[in-house]
Amino acid sequence: MKIRQNTITAVAGKGGTGKTTITALLIRLLREREKGPVLAVDADPSACLGRAVGMRVDESLGTIREESLEEFRKFQPGLSKKEYLEMRVQESIAEGRGLDLLSMGRPEGPGCYCFINSLIRESLDRLSRAYPYIVIDCEAGLEHFSRRTAAGIDYLCMVTTLSSMGIATVGEILDLTASLKTEVGEKVLFLNRMNSARDEEKALAMLEGIPEGTFSAVIRLPDDENVTALDLTGGSLFDLDGDADILNLMKEKITVE
Ligand SMILES: Nc1ncnc2c1ncn2[C@@H]1O[C@H](COP(=O)(O)OP(=O)(O)O)[C@@H](O)[C@H]1O
Ligand SMILES: [Mg+2]
Repeated sequence: MKIRQNTITAVAGKGGTGKTTITALLIRLLREREKGPVLAVDADPSACLGRAVGMRVDESLGTIREESLEEFRKFQPGLSKKEYLEMRVQESIAEGRGLDLLSMGRPEGPGCYCFINSLIRESLDRLSRAYPYIVIDCEAGLEHFSRRTAAGIDYLCMVTTLSSMGIATVGEILDLTASLKTEVGEKVLFLNRMNSARDEEKALAMLEGIPEGTFSAVIRLPDDENVTALDLTGGSLFDLDGDADILNLMKEKITVE
């Protein structure tokens, strides 16, 4: 897999398969290449990308969306709604070294959010131009893409372990992308927590129904004891031993341009 500049990489898959772990490691790779700032987007309401990269977001776009709906009712002239939202979105971004983090938060409630969502999308589009690399930790259903609160995807990374549910979710995501208006570039499959070539064979056999050529790359990652150890202490993946197998494999399989 080759990650080019000015691209959006989205990581999707069933919960528990390793999306957040792989997203954080991808971000680490991009950051270490020092080719420009990375914008990390936490788009899974139940995710903890912040913890995985050792950063904290105080306010999510979900909160801003709800508050703006309220705020727009009593809006004062002077500041346009667009400027207001742009400011709020900008303020919500946590800033780190070579990496900023934005959290999408929960999906909207029952109110009418079309206008706010389109403003949010506009400010995200504008804002995203400042980052050569954007990496999104997605929810399995790709909600933000279906609702068009996010832009297109250049690299869709699908993560699964050797599990029928995980593999079924890959199939569902593929179906979903076919029906989405969002444009999707390359699709890359991450077979995570593979202990042997035999595991990989089994996983690939379970993926048989998927047409050949669907994935531009299949990347097999091991079950890594360093990741397990780090998980127990709640540490950030940026603190993972630089010599960990999983990291070496990712460095080998993924190049950054
Ligand atoms: N390659 C791996 N080796 C060891 N543990 C892993 C690996 N990938 C993920 N895990 C562990 O599996 C659990 C779920 O991973 P996570 O990245 O949070 O999944 P998701 O974001 O898909 O829900 C975590 O405890 C994580 O540490
Ligand atoms: Mg997660």
